[in-house]
Amino acid sequence: MSGSGKKVVVGETPVYLDTRKPLELRVKDALNRMTVEEKTRLSYADGRFSTPGCARLGIPGLMYSDGPHGVRAEICWNSWDYAGWTNDSCTAFPALTCLASTWNPSLSKAYGTAIGEEARYRHKNVLLGPGVNIYRTPLNGRNFEYMGEDPFLAARMCVPYIQGVQENGVAACVKHYALNNQEHWRNHIDVQVSDRALYEIYLPAFKAAIEEGKSWTIMGAYNKVRGTHAAHNKLLNNDILKGEWGFDGCVVTDWGAAHDTYEAAMYGLDLELGTFTNGLTSNSSLGYDSYYLGNAYLQMVKEGKVPMEVVNDKAARVLRLIFRTAMNDNGKLGAMSNDSHYETAYQIATEGIVLLKNEATFKGESLLPLSQGKYKRVLVVGDNAIRNLMQGGGSSELKPKMVITPLEALTEKLGKECVKFTQGYVAGRPMFDRADTFSQSVIDSLYTAAVNEAQKADLVIFMGGLNKNFQQDCEGDDRKTFQLPFEQDRLIKGLLKANKKVVVVLTRGNAVDMPWLKEVPSVIQSWYLGSIGGKALADVITGEVTPSGKLPFSYPAKLEDCPAHYYGEISYPGDGIRQEYKEDILVGYRWYDTKKIKPLFPFGYGLSYTQFEYGKPVVSSSQMQSGDVLEIKCTVRNVGKVAGKEVVQLYIGDEKCSVLRPLKELKDFYKVTLQPGEEKEVLFTIDEEDLKFFDDTQHKWVAESGKFKIYIGSSSKDIKGVVEFDYKN
Ligand code: GLC
Repeated sequence: MSGSGKKVVVGETPVYLDTRKPLELRVKDALNRMTVEEKTRLSYADGRFSTPGCARLGIPGLMYSDGPHGVRAEICWNSWDYAGWTNDSCTAFPALTCLASTWNPSLSKAYGTAIGEEARYRHKNVLLGPGVNIYRTPLNGRNFEYMGEDPFLAARMCVPYIQGVQENGVAACVKHYALNNQEHWRNHIDVQVSDRALYEIYLPAFKAAIEEGKSWTIMGAYNKVRGTHAAHNKLLNNDILKGEWGFDGCVVTDWGAAHDTYEAAMYGLDLELGTFTNGLTSNSSLGYDSYYLGNAYLQMVKEGKVPMEVVNDKAARVLRLIFRTAMNDNGKLGAMSNDSHYETAYQIATEGIVLLKNEATFKGESLLPLSQGKYKRVLVVGDNAIRNLMQGGGSSELKPKMVITPLEALTEKLGKECVKFTQGYVAGRPMFDRADTFSQSVIDSLYTAAVNEAQKADLVIFMGGLNKNFQQDCEGDDRKTFQLPFEQDRLIKGLLKANKKVVVVLTRGNAVDMPWLKEVPSVIQSWYLGSIGGKALADVITGEVTPSGKLPFSYPAKLEDCPAHYYGEISYPGDGIRQEYKEDILVGYRWYDTKKIKPLFPFGYGLSYTQFEYGKPVVSSSQMQSGDVLEIKCTVRNVGKVAGKEVVQLYIGDEKCSVLRPLKELKDFYKVTLQPGEEKEVLFTIDEEDLKFFDDTQHKWVAESGKFKIYIGSSSKDIKGVVEFDYKN
């Protein structure tokens, strides 16, 4: 069985080494030269973030690195400790929820290109991102790493990122496949979901990442799906990913997500990392060879329990990944934290910030934008004005080369004599598995100081929200409440009593309760904005940049309104063993629309410092047959005084269907830039693919004949025009 792998003859240039040769020929040649031991050895780690190649043939191994928002600092070879290098800081890009909020695919491409250059520069072959799990509950600790509640938006916004990363010869690793929509019990919760919800909601972003983004790797999630761990799940890996989607890359475990040798061998796992051993311990039973795809797998192969075609397929996929990355000839050297990376991070941050409220309650004027010189004494309150929010959060944690905090940037713009700061509340250290606690006297003293200062200020900017601490926006667990932590609600109310002119800026990756919303004149939804985030935020607050972000998820008025929380514990967080996604396809705005529940802020919502007027949408025909393409045109005019960007959104509703369908679903969008007074026409095209639902009785996508509506809106709720057409299949 082991065979003596074919030797390299001196003087011969083996095909696998010749980067000019077609990839599959190289793979085949290398495979033919390898022994069965060498083939199986490719599939499990030889370090915390590395897997081996084949030394005898001069094939290098692979280096992996987190994360989706920047290249993580070096981790020790055999522990979770940081290596303490002095040359591994990076550009911290905005979190992917911010990228999604830009609704700007060209920024996604720029993001992927820049982060891919930084990964290449750091000699990483696999970048462990992007994350595209659907935003199902506002309590999920990792929503900040993902792209919101809508599969179409997440799909459109992840594909260019993956393409940008991989143009550098670095593999993207779309994650966490699949149904890892919470952190609580993530290692074992067994998700039960219908085929319709799986195909219509939870898979589309992964499907686009593979079929359009051509992601070279995908990360199997920790949780179970219908009884089997996702990392080695026949339905997810063999039937859908490698069967229906034709994936030719590698399934990588999440770290420690493998649990069974036979399943790992037979159900599509290709690379096992992080299984809970410490690698090179002296006790060989605890070494890497004890991984599920280590000795046990080889033994099964030798006993004929795993067919050689399975072994060869797995090895071929790893070789393909090595030839695409570590052994490619694209000559890319990468780059680290240069001006163009910072500019990219800045663009994404400014275009992702969402203006939620800006009422003209002061003699017809709004508090924002805060023009220089307008106020003599501006008080900035809040821990998030000074905190390095790239620290913490779990595996997406970064060591940024440079951080501009919101306080520094605001002081720079408004002047030292104008801006005063007080912390307002205390949030503790960014820890993964526990949180600091503070005495009420400390909390009260910070509160009192802030309220006293607010009485003396002309205007107050409160900068709070969540942070990357345990049970906040952090991997490993979920939030326990929908409310803001650290007694921020009390503080905001206290500030309002002291001063009516309060701007609330909340940084987070999730919706939160806002009991003070009616009294606060201006509210900004900020995100984890990365290295240049403070400057981006200050430039939006002061009007240098007009906000254009749109929410990638709905804001429920209260947690019970949220579909994941409507059906009780079994739906979220599950009963400790099983979990049932009882809302099925009605996730996010699909639920609020269909159940006629008013969200606090709807999906796709975001204000500007200018105003836009929409013309009546016009459709090219009121009839559509199979194969037809309909054109929808709509004009948008900037009727305000400053330039701005508007995201025109197109939703489609199936008026009558044999199955339950949401009232409408996002099927296209376009971000348009308009000078004051300028008008542009936006053109959309749709075809019958945009009308289909997944028919789980036939296991295929179908569109039923009948009436359909096209909604053109500036959010999922603010519909500017509707056109109808009849479809005949
Ligand atoms: C973590 C995360 C995953 C990350 C991996 C390596 O547990 O779930 O996103 O890439 O392990 O750190």
